[in-house]
Amino acid sequence: VIEAIALDGPAASGKTTVARRVAQTLGFAVIDTGAMYRAVALAALERALALDDGGALTALAESEGPRYRFLPDGEGEQGYRLRVGDRDVTDLLYTERVSVAVPRVAAVSGVRAVLAREQRRIGLEGRVVMTGRDIGTVVLPEAALKVFMTASAEERARRRVAQLDDGAEQFPAVLANIRERDRMDSERADSPLVAAADAVALDTTALSLEQVVARVLELFSRRVASTP
Ligand code: C5P
Repeated sequence: VIEAIALDGPAASGKTTVARRVAQTLGFAVIDTGAMYRAVALAALERALALDDGGALTALAESEGPRYRFLPDGEGEQGYRLRVGDRDVTDLLYTERVSVAVPRVAAVSGVRAVLAREQRRIGLEGRVVMTGRDIGTVVLPEAALKVFMTASAEERARRRVAQLDDGAEQFPAVLANIRERDRMDSERADSPLVAAADAVALDTTALSLEQVVARVLELFSRRVASTP
C-alpha cells in the first residue's frame, strides 16, 4: 500500500481543485496526469502531427514524457506548474484546441504506456494526490485511497464556465466538449474511464468544494489508520 490518493473521474469533475486542497492539507504533491496528456496533445498540434498517427504520437511521448516535471505552485489556480524541460507549458494546456485533441492522443496505447510508466514512477514515491482516469485501475492500484468522483455533465460544464471570463457564452461548447470527452474516454479500448472495484464513489453534484475535500480527507485518515 502506497501513501497516496488516486482521484479519478470524468472531465471537469473538480478533481484538480479537490486534489490541490487535499494535498495542501496533507503536505502531499499534486500530480495531474491529465496535464501530461494535454502536454503531448499540445506538442502534437505544434508539430502539426496527424492525430491518427499512433506511431508518431508514441515517438513524441517517448521523447517528451521523461522531461515532464511538476512544480508546486501555491499561488496558481491549478496548484502546480508543468514544465517540459525548461519550458513552462501550464498556461497553454487548457485551450479549446488542446481539449478537442487530447482524447484522441490519449486513446493511443503507446502514448498511454509511456505516460503511465512515468506516472507510476512518481506515484511509487508516495505522498501524492494523483488525478486522472486510470490511476486506481492501472497507474497506481496500490494507492491507500481510491476515489471515483462524478457529477452530472451539466453541473460540470457550469463549474467549468464559472472559471472563464466570457463563460456564459461558452456554455454550449464546453458542455459539448465534456460530453464528447466522456464518450471517448469511456469507450476507448486501452484503460477506459472506469471506477476501480475498490474505489469509493463520490457524486459531487450536490456537494460544495469544502464538503468534498472534507470527505476525501476523512476517508484517507480512516484508510491510513486501518492499514497495518
Ligand atoms: O483531466 P483532464 O480533463 O485535464 O484530462 C484531459 C484528457 O486526458 C482526458 O479527457 C483524457 O482523454 C486524458 N486522460 C487520460 N488518462 C488520464 C488523464 C487524462 O486518458 N489518467
